[in-house]
Amino acid sequence: MTTTFNKCLMAGAIPLAILLSSSAFAQEGTSKGEVEVLNWWTSGGEAKALGALKDKLADDGIGWQNMPVAGGAGTNAMAVLRSRITSNNPPTAAQVLGYDAQDWADRDALSPLDDVAKAGNWDEVFPQPIQRFAKSDGHWIAAPFEIHSTNWVWANKSMMDELGIEQPDTWEAFIASMKKAQEAGHTGLAYGGQPWQDATVFENVVLATGGADFYRQAMIDLDPKALDSDTMVRSFDRFRELLQYKDDNSPGRDWNLATAMVINGDALYQIMGDWAKGEFLNAGLKPEQDFMCFRTPGTQDAVTFNSDLMIMFKNDDEQQQSMQNTMAGIIGSPEFQVTFSQLKGSVPARTDLSSDGLDACAQRGYEQAKAAAESDTLMGSMAHGYAAPAGVKNAVFDIVSSFVNGNMPSDVAAEQLAMAVQGARS
Ligand code: GAL
Repeated sequence: MTTTFNKCLMAGAIPLAILLSSSAFAQEGTSKGEVEVLNWWTSGGEAKALGALKDKLADDGIGWQNMPVAGGAGTNAMAVLRSRITSNNPPTAAQVLGYDAQDWADRDALSPLDDVAKAGNWDEVFPQPIQRFAKSDGHWIAAPFEIHSTNWVWANKSMMDELGIEQPDTWEAFIASMKKAQEAGHTGLAYGGQPWQDATVFENVVLATGGADFYRQAMIDLDPKALDSDTMVRSFDRFRELLQYKDDNSPGRDWNLATAMVINGDALYQIMGDWAKGEFLNAGLKPEQDFMCFRTPGTQDAVTFNSDLMIMFKNDDEQQQSMQNTMAGIIGSPEFQVTFSQLKGSVPARTDLSSDGLDACAQRGYEQAKAAAESDTLMGSMAHGYAAPAGVKNAVFDIVSSFVNGNMPSDVAAEQLAMAVQGARS
């Protein structure tokens, strides 16, 4: 593999700064070569968590070439990944979500990770809803980083205290609290108007309105009768109600900028997956002291999840294969699962770990995720690639975002949703 150092040698020009940084790199130890890792972890909290992997690899003498593609939920990253594969230039590894991992496995593009999985006892320690996506035809094809879940509200605690807002347990109390914040001159709901964020908030409303069984029927089973139902119409009604509490500058806003509105005291709440907590932590804030986390009112009995998976692309180079195995082993290891989640905001994907090192939100989240996995209410997130394949997911995004950005009536939206999903499946 050609390093920066070798490229400079070939070019016959070795600026001092590069010589110095190359030797610093060599001390960290790149004797085993370098991995190139495609990912979309570019926010403060995300980059810090990714740094934990880079550091661990460096301890093993493996260098790091980052390939970040900004854009929440990986929409842009997946387009770049496709073009890299099409031009026969795959990275060593890539961060992907559930159905996308399955898609690459179906295309026979991935290195199997069975040896690492066997050594780490992965069959025993990762829950079934994750194995369903990290394995293909009985073989491990991905290393799960964590469990994220999307049905969380992140709240500014001092604003709650100042306005006398108690943690809301019902939808009505949730709306009333945002109204209060709005009347006091704040933004009720920090909102990022991008299709994947629209869909993240929408799936929360569907779960809050219809409950776990309805969520499953509509979002996972894609049952047309559930998609175009009275309950779905009510979900769109509630979604419209919620949208009154966003500000006028929301279109196009990145999720971490919406999180910053809560951090900075401009907004009361954000509905977002627990990667948002990584931003609070990165800003030096502590859960339940400086900010609050609670399940979106009405969704307390279920967990909608996603899990970032590292897939490794087939490679003839034995050195690359060995580095891929090392990286997979690190990601699945008990110590890394905890360290990573402490920075990322998630909880470990392994279910056999102590929660002592986790913060208050994550301790609850970990217990809830494990209990949900046992009771079959750990359900895949539509917005984050765990409910349906990309074609269906994008069809849902289209309808939900048209609803957010226009005046579509709720009954029309439900009908269109059912039609769009049907069209994407056929
Ligand atoms: C999710 C991903 C998270 C986080 C988030 C925002 O899909 O699982 O790790 O990166 O997108 O980009």
